[in-house]
Amino acid sequence: MSTELKSAAAVSHPNIAFIKYWGNRDHHLRIPASGSISMNLGRLETRTRVTFNPALTADRLILNGEPTSGKQLQRVQTFLDHVRRLAGIDLYAEVESKNDFPTGAGIASSASAFSALALAAAAAAGLQLSEAELSRLARRGSGSACRSVPGGFVEWLAGEDDQSSYAVSIAPADHWDLVDIVAVISQVHKPTGSTEGHALAETSPLQKARLKSAPARLEQCRTAILRRDFEALAEVSELDCNLMHAVMMTGARRLLYWQPATIELIHAAGEWRRSGIPVFYTIDAGPNVHLICPAAEADRVAAAAAQIQGVKEVLQAPAGSAAHLLAEEVNL
Ligand code: PMV
Repeated sequence: MSTELKSAAAVSHPNIAFIKYWGNRDHHLRIPASGSISMNLGRLETRTRVTFNPALTADRLILNGEPTSGKQLQRVQTFLDHVRRLAGIDLYAEVESKNDFPTGAGIASSASAFSALALAAAAAAGLQLSEAELSRLARRGSGSACRSVPGGFVEWLAGEDDQSSYAVSIAPADHWDLVDIVAVISQVHKPTGSTEGHALAETSPLQKARLKSAPARLEQCRTAILRRDFEALAEVSELDCNLMHAVMMTGARRLLYWQPATIELIHAAGEWRRSGIPVFYTIDAGPNVHLICPAAEADRVAAAAAQIQGVKEVLQAPAGSAAHLLAEEVNL
């Protein structure tokens, strides 16, 4: 066993899915019931440093400057246990992590958090992993985190086991100048987290139909991205979002994430599109609405979204790059 201090830092962007991940084939390994496609969100980032330290008697997690305990710490400890097993080390670690987007801004931070953690922890533990292996590792922390490892527009190949389930880039960030305008309606933490939500998916009678038709939507979405066909991407993304929310609303326990302002924005996006502005909506496990449009329309769409009653804040994010390691001397 080494007694040296081993440290590494990494940066990663969150992502927004056009074709959603909702439901698992294997809950423990987070093998999804179907594939998904997303875009990394540039400008927004999580920076994480991991230091394996022989002087520590337990893992520590410092989030945005605050020492953390409870469930959040436990999830990171379980992840670090997996890294320690892979690397054959038994040192505890200090994990320091910062988001440059407000926590509670309605952007799921678990994707960028576990993606940055995977890169930093693997490097600090002395593991040399390929992008696919890092994506598989990030998946163990949070499913959607595997999509934040590669750059730009990304597809998570569902696979059927730990080995075959990871994400790949289908086009780089500069392939298409799309922007995600995030209309923040609520900053509070969601009452039902996604880990619990994935387990409820299979209790909806609609999930089977959603999964059966998923390969066709994946194909349509992949083709729309490769051809930069905005109308086709809009159609398939809104359909896929509605299907996921239909499953959420019809499980053994009802998950209804939408607020009145969410529905206002769904209607508004439709009206804007009919009036000739290329824009579509997608919504994750919360009330906030992601409005996707070409960069040339971003300011106009952001200003219009800010006018809707109940919208508290509007953020803009273009397509973002892959997760990567930071130089040792960089401050978080
Ligand atoms: O990675 P998780 O367990 O937080 O699940 C993410 C689920 C959604 O954000 C609702 C959809 C997706 O594909 O990102």
